Parts: sequence; structure tokens; C-alpha cells
Amino acid sequence: MPDEIVRWIGEASPRTIVDGTYGGGGHTRLLRDILPAETDSNGLNPLIIGMDRDPAVIRRDDVPEGPGSDPRIELFLGSYEKAPAALAHCERTHADALVLDLGLSSDQLADRERGFSFTLPDAELDLRFDPESDLPAHQWLAFHGEKDIADAIYQFGEERFSRRIARQICLRAKERSPVKTVGDLVDICRRCVPRSKNHDIHPATRTFQALRIAVNDELGILQRTLASAADWIAPGGRIAAISFHSLEDRIVKNAFRDDDRWEILTKKPLRPTDEEVQSNPRSRSAKLRVAARKPD
Ligand SMILES: C[S@@+](CC[C@H](N)C(=O)[O-])C[C@H]1O[C@@H](n2cnc3c(N)ncnc32)[C@H](O)[C@@H]1O
Repeated sequence: MPDEIVRWIGEASPRTIVDGTYGGGGHTRLLRDILPAETDSNGLNPLIIGMDRDPAVIRRDDVPEGPGSDPRIELFLGSYEKAPAALAHCERTHADALVLDLGLSSDQLADRERGFSFTLPDAELDLRFDPESDLPAHQWLAFHGEKDIADAIYQFGEERFSRRIARQICLRAKERSPVKTVGDLVDICRRCVPRSKNHDIHPATRTFQALRIAVNDELGILQRTLASAADWIAPGGRIAAISFHSLEDRIVKNAFRDDDRWEILTKKPLRPTDEEVQSNPRSRSAKLRVAARKPD
């Protein structure tokens, strides 16, 4: 929903923007055009801080915003939860806008080695945004018991057959052939999840989503960040958050509702237009919510 992001954020006339989920840099490139041209009277230059947890995104050779190319853009490897540290590094305490476009990028989905898609059965079941931190998904499964695995698959994937799936995962571990690859988990899901009536959803979709959320602590990070964002977003500044499933959307909605320093600007979440869904089918479940930081 790039036009909406530019419009809602542009209305705040921001000088410092945090693009917390830089990905392919699409939003950053659009937001660059709404920055003021000049340094202000306090010597503060216009700046977009692009953050991403994925080293492959930030260290890509072809990043057009790479060091030296555009002084208005600084990229940081790390979770958007660390935005205050990135701001401090850029010698500022507050941002005027935070943009979050949650979930996976198309590049990550297309990277067949990382386990995000089901197309390469031999790929290691990893699912981490940052392959240099935390545990890959197959180890996460090895370290958790059947109940925890079932709860995660149910809670984060809303998968009705979570108990069956967790039982099979733990059975394989007991038989000394633990789930290690994408194909191992897809096979289990195929056996445990009946095919949906119109075959519109792969039997492993919900389970993979759940494990990705668990392994990356996606909901915890979102919750903690939104709970503290009013401390480092300047009065008059804005947050625009695009979520892709109901759990994320609920966290965004509640965070804006529960902190009276936010004025909710979108009473109902905004949805992509039919044209956008047609050109980018993955956007069909996107929901955008925007809030403005009230004056102190
Ligand atoms: C949907 S993509 C963003 C696409 C981007 N808006 C664009 O226009 O190209 C989501 C990105 O967020 C990153 N990400 C996920 N969780 C993150 C976190 N906690 N902190 C920073 N980046 C995160 C992922 O690595 C991925 O690159």
C-alpha cells in the first residue's frame, strides 16, 4: 500500500523517518521524496533510517542507498525494536515517523535455501530472518516439548490440527529421525491436515507461519516496540503499520487504543485496492493502521 504510506506519513512533514522493515527498500525510496531538501536551523539533516534483521538485505552489494550514495539514508542491521539506538547513533533522540511493513519480503520467500517457502524439500528448516542469531526452526522444535509446539502452531498459525502435527513432530524425534528439513515438516502437515475444500491453502502454510513467528519472536518484538514508540516518536509524528494476519493486526490496534498518547487516524484498517491485489497477490491480506503522536 505504498501510496497510502506516502500520503499518511507525508502529512506529518517528517524530517527523521524510521523504515523499520527495509526489505527491498521500496518504502524508503518513496519516502525519500517527501523529506525536506534542507538541513533545519538546528543543523538536523533530513534522514531515513532503514532497519532490517536480515543481513542479506542490509549487506546486499546492490543496495542503492549504500554508504556514500545518498547521505539522507542510513541502513542498520538489527530489529526495529532497536530504533532508539539507531536514532542515537544518528545523533537524534526522536523520529517523526515509523513505518512497519511486517512479515516476509518477496526476496526472502524466493530464497529457496532458507525454508520460507515449501519449494525445496531438502532445504534446512531454518525460518530465521537473521540466520546469525537465535535458533533455526528445526532446533527450536528439538528444544520444545509437544505441548509447547502444539500451542505455538495453534496460537501463531491458528491451525486446528496443531496437536496432531506436534505429536508427529515429537514422534519423529523419539524415533531418532527428528524434523530437519522443509520436506520433513511438509510431509507431516500433509498427513495431519485435511485438504481445504477449494484447495486454496497449502496444508503446511499455517504451521510454517506459526514456526516463523515463534522462531523470530515476531509478536513479542511488535508488542514491545509499539508499547515504547510514543517515547521516541516526536509529538505530531506518526506510525504506519501494515500487518498480514489477525494476530499482528490485533497487537497494532490494541497498542494504539491502550496508550492515550496516540490519536488513531484510521478507525478501521485500510485495505489494498483491487488493482494492487491483482498486481501483487500477496497484498490481499494486508491491513494498514496509522496513528499520530499527540502533543505532550
Ligand atoms: C514485507 S518486507 C518489507 C518490504 C519493504 N517495505 C519494501 O518496500 O521493500 C519485511 C521485512 O522486514 C524484515 N523484518 C522482519 N522482522 C523485523 C524486525 N523485527 N526488525 C527489522 N526488520 C524485520 C524482514 O527481514 C523483511 O525484510
